[in-house]
Amino acid sequence: MALHLSNACFSALSRSSKVGAVRAVASEQGSVAVKTAEVEKLSLGGSQQQVTRIGIGAWSWGDTSYWNNFEWDDRKMKAAKAAFDTSVDSGITFFDTAEVYGSRMSFGAISSETLLGRFIKERKQRNPEVEIAVATKFAALPWRLGRESVVSALKESLSRLQLPCVELYQLHWPGIWGNEGYIDGLADAVEQGLVKAVGVSNYSEKRLRAAHEQLKKRGIPLASNQVNYSLIYRLPEENGVKSTCDELGITLIAYSPIAQGALTGKYTPSNTPSGPRGRIYTSEFLSKLQPLINRIKEIGESYEKTPTQVVLNWLIAQENVVPIPGAKNGEQAKEFGGAIGWRLTNEEVEELRSMASEVKPVIGFPVEKL
Ligand SMILES: NC(=O)c1ccc[n+]([C@@H]2O[C@H](COP(=O)([O-])OP(=O)(O)OC[C@H]3O[C@@H](n4cnc5c(N)ncnc54)[C@H](OP(=O)(O)O)[C@@H]3O)[C@@H](O)[C@H]2O)c1
Repeated sequence: MALHLSNACFSALSRSSKVGAVRAVASEQGSVAVKTAEVEKLSLGGSQQQVTRIGIGAWSWGDTSYWNNFEWDDRKMKAAKAAFDTSVDSGITFFDTAEVYGSRMSFGAISSETLLGRFIKERKQRNPEVEIAVATKFAALPWRLGRESVVSALKESLSRLQLPCVELYQLHWPGIWGNEGYIDGLADAVEQGLVKAVGVSNYSEKRLRAAHEQLKKRGIPLASNQVNYSLIYRLPEENGVKSTCDELGITLIAYSPIAQGALTGKYTPSNTPSGPRGRIYTSEFLSKLQPLINRIKEIGESYEKTPTQVVLNWLIAQENVVPIPGAKNGEQAKEFGGAIGWRLTNEEVEELRSMASEVKPVIGFPVEKL
């Protein structure tokens, strides 16, 4: 796919740099040493905020409505903490959460923001030099009207996170009404020093252009649009969202980048995922996916990479894309680190896109079509 890049976009893409970041490395004795390592970072759109080439999604942390077989316990909490610490150890320091992630109502459950805040606090006590970039999101619920609701929701998120500000604040989805007020609320949050960059999520091309224009009048760049994007869910390439992000210099943050585990090769027609995912990634769907998974495995073997690393690398090869795979434990987080520092050839990128186009995509989040 030929990418048309405007000057604005070119400057955004070229603002990728290797920075000497403090990175914690576990020693053989199990203690943690801190050393400075080169970590590639990328600016979020036209903002000053830089993040690592991959982020980690924290939706499943504390969640009992979609993930974790509807149960949360101490073992899962320790696994989530290991996911956080392993990510930081492998140089991935960008974490995505939301005020609606995790649970607050059911017994023993906890919000994802609260967990992330605790993990950051504990880690900073051990390694004060570690820099974590936090992205969280505003839920555009119908009863939330006006710009004030954005700042007040953000303050509640900051309280759960135990942080004075976050690096990125996003509108989680477009509201039924009140959208202009929400955009002004984002700008207010920047001006009040509560957030370093602002973005949106599940925004169509039309809404993206309008939000970009409105923020520009306040002198603030729209840094990102977070949308569903993976090798088997390429709607952003088809509906103008990817090309608009490239044209306007907005970073595309790719959610569900490994298709909720379906692209890792671990689920098969006879081993479908449990819970609500099982109704999406059915045995029939996974049968049709097998030829693609087999080719992903073959390509991965030639680089000594796993399928998960290949499909994340495929997204990074699209340029101007930051994938945020969800990690439930340390092993998963460690694997993500191996998706960066190498690149599929253009021929492999195109071959995989062409094979993936044979697979009928699953149904996405309807709001992205609003
Ligand atoms: N803005 C939005 O509307 C929106 C919507 C969805 C997601 N998001 C964000 O995007 C993040 C990622 O999306 P997602 O969680 O939907 O999907 P994803 O990243 O495509 O898949 C994550 C799931 O894949 C499995 N997995 C992870 N690493 C693996 C590995 N190395 N090997 C095998 N399986 C692995 C895990 O589940 P199992 O171990 O149970 O298989 C994990 O929970 C979320 O955490 C959230 O921050 C945003």
